[in-house]
Amino acid sequence: MGSGDSEASEQLLYWLREQHDQYGPKYACGVSQCGACTVLVDGAAVRSCTRQMHTVPEGAEVRTLDGLAGDRPHPLQRAVVSLQAGQCGFCLAGIVMGVLAWLEERIAAGDRKVPSDDEIKAFLSGTDGREGAENYICRCGAHQRIVAAIRDAAKEMVR
Ligand code: FES
Ligand code: FES
Repeated sequence: MGSGDSEASEQLLYWLREQHDQYGPKYACGVSQCGACTVLVDGAAVRSCTRQMHTVPEGAEVRTLDGLAGDRPHPLQRAVVSLQAGQCGFCLAGIVMGVLAWLEERIAAGDRKVPSDDEIKAFLSGTDGREGAENYICRCGAHQRIVAAIRDAAKEMVR
């Protein structure tokens, strides 16, 4: 995506939703605390509610939930649906994108192990020790099913 049509001080979330009809990323807390607005910028998870456009490099690849499915839904999407992982679903667009970045980074580094439930919980709570690790909040309390969905999707992604 090019950012030539943006105001430098505009947040990435509004640029995506209002100028590019990308409604996957959600506005929830608005202050980088929950992860509902997470998108990927050049493969890295970014909280779009607070990321100003002038910090997004020109020509950067921005991925949102909207573009995740190809010919068929992505394994993360299929797992979320098949396990009914959400209640309201508001958190899931951000969680799916954050998990996608995490799992793709592990796989690119040659780690094809399915993460344990404890590793998934540490990822979701932002306590896994990675640089820049951030937490993801589900206000409905559907975390157990979300963990199960991530585990199932990871099994497919590492094959
Ligand atoms: S809406 Fe961006 S982190 Fe909560
Ligand atoms: S399913 Fe409602 S916030 Fe997570």
